[in-house]
Amino acid sequence: MRIALIALLAVAIEACTMIAVGKKATVDGSTIVTHNDDAGDDASDLRLVAIEGREYPTDSERAVYKIFGGYPRLVSTDRSPQYYPKQGQNETKPMGFIPQVSRTYSYIQQEYGIINEVQLAIGESTCNSKTNGWPLTIPGGQSLLGIGELTNIAMERCDSARCAIQTMGDLAVKYGFYGEYSGTPEAPGYDSEALGITDRYGEVWIFHIMAGPANNSAIWAGQRVPDDHIAVVANRFTIGAIDLSKPDQFMASDNVFSAAESMGWYTPKVPGKTDDFDFSKAYARELPPGPHIFADGRTWRVYSTFAKSQNFTHDFGYVTVYPRYPFSVRADNPIALSQITTILRDQFQGTEYDLHNGAAAGPFGSPLRYSGFTLGIHGAWINPLSVHRTLYSYAAHIQSNSPVGTLWFGESSPHGTVYIPFSSIQTKLPASFHDLAGKQSEFNPKSAWWAFNFVNNWRTLRYDLISEDVVAFIKKYQDEALALNTVMLEYVSTLNGSTAEMRAFLEASHNRFAEHVVDARWQLAWTLIAKYSDGYVTTGEQPGGMASPGYPGWWLNMTNYVQWQPRQQPVTLASTPSISFMPNLTLFIGILVGFIAHYALHRTRRQGYSSIL
Ligand SMILES: *[C@@H]1O[C@H](CO)[C@@H](O)[C@H](O)[C@H]1NC(C)=O
Ligand SMILES: *[C@@H]1O[C@H](CO)[C@@H](O)[C@H](O)[C@H]1NC(C)=O
Ligand SMILES: *[C@@H]1O[C@H](CO)[C@@H](O)[C@H](O)[C@H]1NC(C)=O
Ligand SMILES: *[C@@H]1O[C@H](CO)[C@@H](O)[C@H](O)[C@H]1NC(C)=O
Ligand SMILES: *[C@@H]1O[C@H](CO)[C@@H](O)[C@H](O)[C@H]1NC(C)=O
Repeated sequence: MRIALIALLAVAIEACTMIAVGKKATVDGSTIVTHNDDAGDDASDLRLVAIEGREYPTDSERAVYKIFGGYPRLVSTDRSPQYYPKQGQNETKPMGFIPQVSRTYSYIQQEYGIINEVQLAIGESTCNSKTNGWPLTIPGGQSLLGIGELTNIAMERCDSARCAIQTMGDLAVKYGFYGEYSGTPEAPGYDSEALGITDRYGEVWIFHIMAGPANNSAIWAGQRVPDDHIAVVANRFTIGAIDLSKPDQFMASDNVFSAAESMGWYTPKVPGKTDDFDFSKAYARELPPGPHIFADGRTWRVYSTFAKSQNFTHDFGYVTVYPRYPFSVRADNPIALSQITTILRDQFQGTEYDLHNGAAAGPFGSPLRYSGFTLGIHGAWINPLSVHRTLYSYAAHIQSNSPVGTLWFGESSPHGTVYIPFSSIQTKLPASFHDLAGKQSEFNPKSAWWAFNFVNNWRTLRYDLISEDVVAFIKKYQDEALALNTVMLEYVSTLNGSTAEMRAFLEASHNRFAEHVVDARWQLAWTLIAKYSDGYVTTGEQPGGMASPGYPGWWLNMTNYVQWQPRQQPVTLASTPSISFMPNLTLFIGILVGFIAHYALHRTRRQGYSSIL
């Protein structure tokens, strides 16, 4: 999702991470694209929706909407029953129309299109650029297409990554592209988009798109990820040089060089030759120092995990000021799907940035760092892949030797989620994921999202201890899910390619399993409520059934707890304890402040972001 820049000083930031893995970089020859949807600041519609493909008469038109962030994201009769008007809802007025195709594919979408019945899959990450477009709904807005509708259209029309890139790119050039957080002409948001796209032909591409220089039309480029590579987009463009003489590796809009030249963002060394062109250098908007630890920390983490041999350093850079990480890297070893879902849950465990450690983690080692108003204090938290505000995440797992792909979908923050498999050909999902999913502004005990989110929040009461229960839950159900999915795919391969039979079987078994996990998650929630309340760990009625673990010693030592030492001698009027105690207290505080300041400075230097202080 977004990276919003509010003024130069206080940088309030949302994020999304996208990882893409080529077929020779995985253990099973599959391709994978992922998306961590790090929403925030505004409420989001919680529904995961399946939209059925349809046939259309010639000359039909397709409505294009300005998708709303909160609930309901869309009210219309032309997509799915989930979007039909409910009591008190008015239909969303289309912003405009484009020609419809004769047949659309079925697909699953949340805020963006995710996976379709012919195994096209997309993951998203918002970036920033030097151009800005606004939707037609805003005074001065000239553009019809945002990334939500573009990815939906790709799902409806395409079975390949190349088709998706060409289709989205051409439509955006013609009808105009706007960023979801584009602001207003008076206060532009300068946001643009990057996607990872994969298909059943075994290809993986990265796509970048932004508005044209006149705030309309679009500029775009696509680059193929080599088969044995893994690529990451963490809120900044990654495509560099573009060689259109290699159409198997690069695609771009006609204006990709000329728009940059016309704006003075690129001047070829040799007129007419574009081999020194760098897409990100030309078009990425330079941000004030600070956000580089926000974006590049995640890229470093993924690259240094899967390509350890390349010794990536973490003197995090930003756009042209600092060197960029490569567009993609060769994986040291073939990667399993479970390693990808593990990295989606990552919070820098085992590195010097491990968010479970230090004073900011509090007494119970919470890796969560809330964003928001900072009283004008300069600084930043490093941003992991899994954050408190991640609304949902997924890994789309596409196997060209299988008739169906799998969407591994995780509700709420990845570090607390189970990735539940859904099939690419499903046209029905469990109601707890859509009609009963509810709103972010209203707790709903029938909702799959709330089941996961509730436990994630309860966990923060006593992060260290409750994590043991949550991690055990994740392991149990994640293992079950992986085993079950393997069995299902094996069975499906015996069905001799009958789509209707496959769909009926997969829909029933996947949805049953999903409901089973959601039920179990509520059971976990109710268990945790009793077990971890009021600072106790309560496991039984017998004496000793209640433990009182208190606080860790290192933390107590930082607090005024340790000021209250037992008196050694009876108090006499002639010698009040305050007189002898006060200097000690002053000395203690002095030492503590000195220690913290020394530690903070030292750590800041080590982390290489002294530039932001
Ligand atoms: C729906 O439209 C009617 C008539 O324009 C309006 O009075 C009402 O407030 C609208 N309802 C919502 C939920 O926007
Ligand atoms: C595009 O928008 C920017 C920012 O609002 C503005 O400065 C610029 O003049 C606009 N360009 C055109 C061609 O309208
Ligand atoms: C990474 O570091 C190791 C150990 O220092 C070294 O042997 C290796 O050559 C380095 N690899 C690269 C790509 O620089
Ligand atoms: C698939 O084809 C094989 C071989 O023709 C046959 O034995 C099997 O029964 C078929 N399976 C189904 C579900 O139709
Ligand atoms: C707390 O401080 C005391 C006194 O300085 C020290 O002996 C003890 O090791 C500290 N405990 C921890 C866990 O840091």
